[in-house]
Amino acid sequence: MIEASAPGKVILFGEHFVVKGSRAIATAVDLRARARAERAERGISIDSANLGSSARLSLDLSGTYGPEMAPYVAVLRALRERGYSLIPHRALLTSEMPLSAGLGSSAASSVAYALAYSALHGSPLGERELFEVSLEGERVAHGNPSGIDNAIAVKGGTVVYRRGEAPREVEVRLGGHSLIIVDSGEKRSTREAVEGVLRLADRHWRALEKLYLAADAIVEEAIALLSAGDAEGLGELMNVNHGLLSAVGVSTAKLDLIAHELRRAGALGAKLTGAGRGGCVIAIAQAGRAQRIAEHVKGLGYEAFLSGLGAPGARLETI
Ligand code: MEV
Repeated sequence: MIEASAPGKVILFGEHFVVKGSRAIATAVDLRARARAERAERGISIDSANLGSSARLSLDLSGTYGPEMAPYVAVLRALRERGYSLIPHRALLTSEMPLSAGLGSSAASSVAYALAYSALHGSPLGERELFEVSLEGERVAHGNPSGIDNAIAVKGGTVVYRRGEAPREVEVRLGGHSLIIVDSGEKRSTREAVEGVLRLADRHWRALEKLYLAADAIVEEAIALLSAGDAEGLGELMNVNHGLLSAVGVSTAKLDLIAHELRRAGALGAKLTGAGRGGCVIAIAQAGRAQRIAEHVKGLGYEAFLSGLGAPGARLETI
């Protein structure tokens, strides 16, 4: 039996704009997706506890499965193309992340499964191949992924990412500060959110190009502020970034309200994270105040938890 895990993430700056070439910064959070794999007599069965769904396949990858399991079949297809023969096995996927909340659960699950299967096969994938193979899963799930969710699930830490380039580790000196992650409870589709923003950008490119440039400039400045430990400056940039995401249509009344409540309760800044149209809002706050701020939004009926930045990347677990 092999177990692999990969972290979920929050995007600190630049989601959506990263799909069309701007940079973005993501950090791995303390919630993980896990895949357990063991050899079986015949065929392939994959069960996802969170999705409540399964795939039953023969070794030629024909079989029965719902669309939500298609990413894992795509992962196996990509592995086969890289010379991994398909061996009979059973896999169980679990995730500590809420689904469809913008925390990268689907990419982290694909990464964990690809790592567990390749290790069961006898040669665990390295970082680059793990990224490429899991991205095939994400393509099925979301259509046009920039790859940032996969990059951070593989590498962990805090990275700056531009489509088509290797992710680069960012130095973070934010001791004494904490991230607050608030789940709005609104479920959304990443695919629809991404397509909506791309449609808007295509229709009004002359104007929206400026927003893409602004998002990239925010990332540039945020890299400097992260390494300088300037949490106040980062909070201000989060607020501006939230405004840009509202401008391209991915905020909702609830996400705006949560961001306002977090700021009112003492956070240094707050923004939606991930695809938006629901999902999560993040805020940065002094560690001594973070718990009280989280309690404030919990009192309004939302799930909230604290997380550090830069959790470890994909790894094989000892079980
Ligand atoms: C989703 O976590 C982030 C988006 O920018 C989509 C992507 O980059 O693939 C919305």
